[in-house]
Amino acid sequence: METAPKTLCILGCGGFIGSHLVERILNDTNWCIYGVDRNPSKISPHLSNPRFAYANIDIDSADAVEGYIRKSDTVVSLVALCNPSLYNTIPLEVIRSNFTRPLAIVEKCAKLGKRLVHFSTCEVYGTTVSHKAGMPFNSNTDIFREETTPLVLGPVRAQRWTYACAKQLLERAIYAHGVEHGLDYTIVRPFNFIGPRMDFLPGIDGDGVPRVLACFMDALLSQKPLKLVDGGRNRRTFTDIADAVGAVMAILEQPQKSTGRIFNIGNPSNETTIAELAKTMIALYRNLRPECADFPYCAQTVTSTEFYGAGYEDSDRRVPDISAARTQLGWNPTASLADALTSAMTFFIKEYSSAHACREAV
Ligand code: NAD
Ligand code: UGA
Repeated sequence: METAPKTLCILGCGGFIGSHLVERILNDTNWCIYGVDRNPSKISPHLSNPRFAYANIDIDSADAVEGYIRKSDTVVSLVALCNPSLYNTIPLEVIRSNFTRPLAIVEKCAKLGKRLVHFSTCEVYGTTVSHKAGMPFNSNTDIFREETTPLVLGPVRAQRWTYACAKQLLERAIYAHGVEHGLDYTIVRPFNFIGPRMDFLPGIDGDGVPRVLACFMDALLSQKPLKLVDGGRNRRTFTDIADAVGAVMAILEQPQKSTGRIFNIGNPSNETTIAELAKTMIALYRNLRPECADFPYCAQTVTSTEFYGAGYEDSDRRVPDISAARTQLGWNPTASLADALTSAMTFFIKEYSSAHACREAV
């Protein structure tokens, strides 16, 4: 193993990915962590660990955050608003949270000579809809390659793309800091990670519309129809969070192999339409919660305007080429979609079923 960082500053340590990364680092290494987040609920088991110093502050607390960055070898930047229901409803805050605030972190890392591992998104590849004439990408046949695939966004009025655009511009700023100031960086483009502790259930531990896994778990637990946006015809490749954290650990452990690079992190074998995802989750739920198995769970189509409001557009298909992560990092995802869903759904059932007793079919 090459030189490993000893002290990390993890910004957004209390989120879905952050909580799994903190857990893995504290369990498997002797590294120390300075963690920043506005919400400690997902990392509460680690708050007493002497190798974890947690600050319940906003990323805008510039002096405090700079202090943690100064004391660290490497900064992992996860802070974001990354829920599609926000992109067209609070677009300015989405741009601040995915460009303006993290840009200040990039600049601090460049100024202080710190290594940066930044979380971007597969959404930078943008609008892949293959039937549109003149698109430079055929989503029926092409997969996303970090170095060659064009990043194509929709029109400005389609505010769905505020997030993707902010993330893309930040990637360009990071790259430019690498070229102009020698910033040591790695950019991660995650492809729909799923697992325990993802998002929230509306009305229980959060408000609004979470990402699809939690939307479907909310529907299953409360025995309401699973909503298929525009029929659920669009496709995603879902990645188990344990596999995903393995890739991040490989990046942290091998800085020489990952510096100045962008990595797609996803599992191309786990592609599904959202309609198929709903069917798979209904079947798994019956197995995992036999006492509720007899209920006639179902899915129901809604339009994207009904579900997300005006300005929503979607990517129809997102399949990563992960050969760079395989060859550079020696990383290979192994969890099937069924395994990843079973792990995530088992957590949701354990965590939330007391709030949702089974009802008889009416
Ligand atoms: P998350 O929402 O669970 O975590 C983000 C964390 O940032 C939250 O805990 C939140 O409290 C914190 N945060 C937000 N604004 C803050 C602020 N101003 N000050 C302090 N803390 C703040 O999201 P996640 O799924 O863990 O994603 C982490 C990163 O990975 C994000 O940058 C996201 O864009 C990117 N990403 C994630 C996925 C995925 O599959 N989960 C996919 C693509 C990209
Ligand atoms: C996500 C988010 O933008 C980010 O978290 C992230 O950067 C990235 O993609 C990722 O996870 O890799 P998206 O995949 O569109 O975007 O978000 P989901 O909420 O998981 O939706 C997936 C698909 O399910 C979309 O087509 C959506 O319209 C659909 N959906 C969502 C439903 O059909 N029903 C629902 O109840 C919720």
